[in-house]
Amino acid sequence: MHGQYLSSEAYSDRTIVVTGAARGIGAACAETFAEAGGTVVGADVRDMSETAAAVAETHGEFVPVETDVTDPDAVADLLAVARDHGPADVIVNVAGIVTKGRVDDIAVEDWREALDVNLSGPFLVVREGIDQLRETGGNVVNVSSIYGQVGTGERTPYVASKAGVDGLTRALAAELGPEGVRANAVAPGFIRTPMTEPYLDDETADRYEGLAALDRLGEPEEVADAVAYLASDGARYVTGETLLVDGGRGTTE
Ligand code: NAI
Repeated sequence: MHGQYLSSEAYSDRTIVVTGAARGIGAACAETFAEAGGTVVGADVRDMSETAAAVAETHGEFVPVETDVTDPDAVADLLAVARDHGPADVIVNVAGIVTKGRVDDIAVEDWREALDVNLSGPFLVVREGIDQLRETGGNVVNVSSIYGQVGTGERTPYVASKAGVDGLTRALAAELGPEGVRANAVAPGFIRTPMTEPYLDDETADRYEGLAALDRLGEPEEVADAVAYLASDGARYVTGETLLVDGGRGTTE
């Protein structure tokens, strides 16, 4: 169930750009905003037909635009579609990849790719969409990670890129606040998605469940609810914030 904490009209007449919308957290965000009446312009390199089918059951609309967020021309085309259906009220940057390996085994191309998708992607999408957000008094929500705040081994490009996303979020908030545009981030802990499913043997699941005070893994729609809150007028005095959505990891011993 998506969007159950919002009215079915909370995002009606609003246009929301969601990257990474084919699956996982991005698909959950698309469904949540659509359930609340929004028009969602979805971007992904993967086929988005599953998300489109799920959104068809909601009050909203879904416009898929095949987009590689690292490609400035493709991102310009994406935001042109958003303008046709908008202008955009919210940009949600979800697309991301994990690069695994010890630091001395990571190829330069893999380092660059992780930084490109996870950090340059959000920058490009915001840069291209900022005029629309100025018009609507809109906002940005970036999906960062708990690994923007704490380190972990064998994922150096990921950790570095997510710390960059937190910095990008604060910089956008500082620069755009005077113009009435907010920027926030969510930092998920361990969420059950196609990205993490391959690693989820019983031992790993137990370990990550144990790290969370709530003693369980998170679900994509629980991240989407936090994104929808930050994007909403309910968070109108919140900007530059990175909200942990991690089940209380770090609060327990
Ligand atoms: P996922 O792999 O299930 O979904 C990511 C989506 O991004 C995929 O549909 C993929 O095709 C798309 N994507 C990748 N590269 C792209 C590109 N260049 N252009 C456009 N789309 C592209 O992953 P998941 O788990 O849903 O993660 C979504 C975001 O949440 C990522 O930024 C990830 O780092 C972040 N996150 C996830 C956590 C988790 O436990 N699943 C924890 C913390 C953060």
